[in-house]
Amino acid sequence: MCGIVGCVGEKPCESFLVNSLKNLEYRGYDSAGIAVFEGDKIKTVKAKGSIGNGLVPKLEAEGSLKAVAGIGHTRWATHGEPSDINAHPQGNARVSVVHNGIIENYRKIKKFLMGKGYTFESQTDTESVAKLLDYSYNGNPVETIASAITQLEGAYSLGIIFREHKNKVYAVRKECPLIIGIGKGEMYLASDMTAILEYTKEYYTPEAGEIAEVTKDGVTFYDIHGNVVEKEIQIAEWDVTAAQKGGYEHFMLKEIHEQPAALKNTVTPRISDGVPSFEECGLTDEMLRNYKNIYIVGCGSAMHAGMVGKYVIEDIARIPVTVDIASEFKYRKPLITKDDLLVIISQSGETADTLSALKLGKEIGADTLAAVNVSGSSIDREAKMSVKTLAGPEISVCSTKAYMVQCAFMYMFAFRLAYARGRIDKAKCAEYTEKLLQIPELIQECINRKEQYQRVASKLVNASSLLYIGRGLDYALSMEGSLKLKEISYIHSESYAGGELKHGTISLVDEEMPVIAVATQTSLYSKTAGNVEQVKSRGAKTIVICRDSADVNPNIADYIIRLPETDDLLMPLVTAVPLQLLAYYTALDRQCSIDKPRNLAKSVTVE
Ligand code: F6R
Repeated sequence: MCGIVGCVGEKPCESFLVNSLKNLEYRGYDSAGIAVFEGDKIKTVKAKGSIGNGLVPKLEAEGSLKAVAGIGHTRWATHGEPSDINAHPQGNARVSVVHNGIIENYRKIKKFLMGKGYTFESQTDTESVAKLLDYSYNGNPVETIASAITQLEGAYSLGIIFREHKNKVYAVRKECPLIIGIGKGEMYLASDMTAILEYTKEYYTPEAGEIAEVTKDGVTFYDIHGNVVEKEIQIAEWDVTAAQKGGYEHFMLKEIHEQPAALKNTVTPRISDGVPSFEECGLTDEMLRNYKNIYIVGCGSAMHAGMVGKYVIEDIARIPVTVDIASEFKYRKPLITKDDLLVIISQSGETADTLSALKLGKEIGADTLAAVNVSGSSIDREAKMSVKTLAGPEISVCSTKAYMVQCAFMYMFAFRLAYARGRIDKAKCAEYTEKLLQIPELIQECINRKEQYQRVASKLVNASSLLYIGRGLDYALSMEGSLKLKEISYIHSESYAGGELKHGTISLVDEEMPVIAVATQTSLYSKTAGNVEQVKSRGAKTIVICRDSADVNPNIADYIIRLPETDDLLMPLVTAVPLQLLAYYTALDRQCSIDKPRNLAKSVTVE
């Protein structure tokens, strides 16, 4: 949600700024801009629209810039519509700022500064930060930033340049991601590592409130009192090719194809003596035995992975699990106590609501266990225990492989929990684990059956609304399938527990309403088939997603998508694939912007 970058070196920085911003475009694409040092002035070029359609043509019209230092921004609009004026950088002749996050008290700051004679052009919260920096300026950038941030409420990572401090870039963060990259003869700043992977793998992560002063020779970190802070260099585990399309038409399609490897990478290193082990993060069997309740929190697809976890944990470990949408958890006064475990699920590790839920759990004294895909992210660092899901960088805004490994984590956790609590013996735990290790082959088999999804997608392409139904684990999957479809194809869809249809929703069903029934759970198949029959008799086009062996009545299913089989318990890992590919091919047929759906951004760092 907004991406920021910066660069200081010896050669012109324009191409770095544009290229690294393009790598961050999944964080927002409403507008983009850069500010660089030109002579003794700051030069700003910014435009509404994507980088390719807005900023790049404007820069071409300018002729190539010679500047060796500057900052850049790609925006997901929070305050003010997408426009040239509201694009970042924001500032004036003295100071220029790029910002990811939200300044909650910006109106108060703006009012104060207007009282001091400042005028404002944009509707952004960021302009208040830039003008507050100008107002606080005392000739020393570090002191100025330290003074200004004490007045900011909210979340931010900021890249800042001051006209009088040529070829230096400053940065500071609170609750939004920021890294400082170390290049050869040049230094970078970025919202995340994928922006700069092709330039370096070495980086620092500033803590909240630490101010980075970046020059071409290195970076110095200061605390809020101006004391120098020493930091350790970190090395990115990801390879640059992992963040490229590698011949696929879309990142989403590439990431769907990467799922067998992502699952294997996440599961295999955590198997010890045939069963999952979480010793790497300090989670012992004794702890697992003592928890009274499990709470699982996440947003969107991460929360849906938590739903899969709930069904599996309650089934085999017999301990109560509550799954919460992170933004609801923190405001609903949850009953979690210090005897409970809070499991936090997040791909980015930066989702603002999920991070606040984690902090609330910690405050209450519950143990916290995170499953994150980005090492060193805020949630990774904040949680008491953290397990890295090893999907590699996920670039498509629509989550696929990250969801898959989040589910895989939930399974490993459930198996170990059930074993530690004596609900299953070691042999059963090893048997489940063995079946989990066979899932990558089944995922591959599902991917190979793409014609089935393409055929059904071509029938959905003109729908304006549809329903996903399922029961038990199939219901958890129908939630994810519905989200995938609406997110990238813009077709309205809802997911319902099959049994709920008759309590209101079935009145929506007519010839215009396709119904997709997820029916992979053997013990629930006949019940879901009954629901399909009910909607079919009301005119709906029906699509049944089921096992290879399911005996589907041809009179109730207009289309059947068949899946390779495993235990009921593990079927979600297989079922996710056709749901993803159905959404993908429908969006493709509708010529939607698949990797960057409208109005969305990856890594939602604002509430
Ligand atoms: C949907 C999707 C989102 C994310 C959600 C949480 O395809 O990608 O629903 O799952 O924004 O993001 P993380 O996992 O980064 O906390």
